[in-house]
Amino acid sequence: MNGAGPIVVLGARGMLGTDLTACCLKQGLEVRGYDLPELDIRNEEDLKEAMNGCRAVVNCAAYTNVERAEQEPELAMQINADAVGLLGCLAALYGVPVMHISTDFVFDGTLERPYVETDPPNPLSAYGRSKWEGEKRLASSGCRFCIVRVQWTYGRAGTNFVVKLLEAARSRPVLRVVEDQVGSPTATSELAEVLVQMLKLPIFPEGVFHAAACGYTSRFEMARFICQVKGLPNSIEPCRTSEFPSAAKRPLNSRFDCRKLRSVLGRDMRPWQEPLKEFLEQL
Ligand SMILES: NC(=O)c1ccc[n+]([C@@H]2O[C@H](COP(=O)([O-])OP(=O)(O)OC[C@H]3O[C@@H](n4cnc5c(N)ncnc54)[C@H](OP(=O)(O)O)[C@@H]3O)[C@@H](O)[C@H]2O)c1
Repeated sequence: MNGAGPIVVLGARGMLGTDLTACCLKQGLEVRGYDLPELDIRNEEDLKEAMNGCRAVVNCAAYTNVERAEQEPELAMQINADAVGLLGCLAALYGVPVMHISTDFVFDGTLERPYVETDPPNPLSAYGRSKWEGEKRLASSGCRFCIVRVQWTYGRAGTNFVVKLLEAARSRPVLRVVEDQVGSPTATSELAEVLVQMLKLPIFPEGVFHAAACGYTSRFEMARFICQVKGLPNSIEPCRTSEFPSAAKRPLNSRFDCRKLRSVLGRDMRPWQEPLKEFLEQL
């Protein structure tokens, strides 16, 4: 991408932000990372100071507790929507492009095929509604932007399905895991490489993109894969999402069609099994 100055990463100590910051450095991009408490994306002065002299902003900051968002939807909306709109307006003012991270939770998961970028969102949860509202606010702010929707992410710097499953496996010999949720387990380290590749393109890629590892699986099959790679003796039993009452409704189909991203990058992400195996071996 043309332009001077560092890449600014918001939410730099979160799961994706940590890997993205490291990947920028590894690939020779100057980077400045911010997170709570030194920067609150709801605060205009904080944003102005962070964006000063940068060549692009990547927003990985978000309210990400899907269950708790049902109890505090206003807070989720402030962080995931109002603040993103504010970021967009400031970016328009300063002429800085914004790369914003969003989620499969903008969809209701009822389609019987992988989701393309133009499929109409219909979020099922307070978290999903706040993220969808954030996308719309950014799009109407007047800045140059791209929205990268990601799903089923795991990484070293955060809580995620892989870590939770391994924790559960320590105390429970039999694990019941849902077989009716399908998606693509995606490593934040791999996503970071995709985002950096996008940032390095000669022209900032505008629009909405779906980014996920290649191939699809269920949570049940993913759990079996994790136990197999780690050599765990636990038995994994399939069950349905409806058997686990939860405050937030989740999309059952989180599959993304990533052909648009492939057309821009000239490559697919690796099949989900490869990075997950590497991640498990390094744990
Ligand atoms: N994890 C997934 O499975 C998943 C799936 C789809 C999409 N996404 C999206 O991916 C992006 C990155 O998420 P992640 O997985 O890296 O989540 P994460 O680990 O929770 O990171 C989010 C970061 O944002 C920070 N943050 C929260 N409120 C803030 C505020 N007001 N101002 C500044 N920073 C704030 C958090 O700080 P605290 O920890 O101190 O709150 C945290 O460091 C998000 O847009 C998320 O919606 C994630």
